[in-house]
Amino acid sequence: MDELVEEMKVVLASTFALYLKIHGFHWNVEGPNFPQYHKFLDKMWNEVFDAVDPIAEHIRTLGAYAPASFLRYKELSFIKDDVNIHPAITMMTKLLADHEAIIKFLTKTQAIAEKNKKMGVANFLQDRIDAHEKHAWMLRSIIKA
Ligand SMILES: [Fe+2]
Repeated sequence: MDELVEEMKVVLASTFALYLKIHGFHWNVEGPNFPQYHKFLDKMWNEVFDAVDPIAEHIRTLGAYAPASFLRYKELSFIKDDVNIHPAITMMTKLLADHEAIIKFLTKTQAIAEKNKKMGVANFLQDRIDAHEKHAWMLRSIIKA
């Protein structure tokens, strides 16, 4: 079970880091398609942010404490901070890579949840995989020339 808890902490930190990055891109995106990008990223950060609380509460249900600090998130997250301002398409390309990385990690975590017979967690992670796959599809469609 410890393995699942540790994985879920990484899921929490990485989801929070991705949420923050998307919100920043929502604020700072520029270009002729600004209204569409701004709105598109608004929906995306809200969807990812809404996952943060249930992830933390799954960690509590598993009997552990949920990390909630930038220090711990920096240690735990595999989503790297981005302090630069990029052209819109570069932002979309970077977000696609992050969603793909999260999908890969969530798939691994889901298998550990199943191994530990934590089907509620496994089902929740499947919903997160589906949500990230939908974001990835939309980003891929934007990037395609
Ligand atoms: Fe906004």
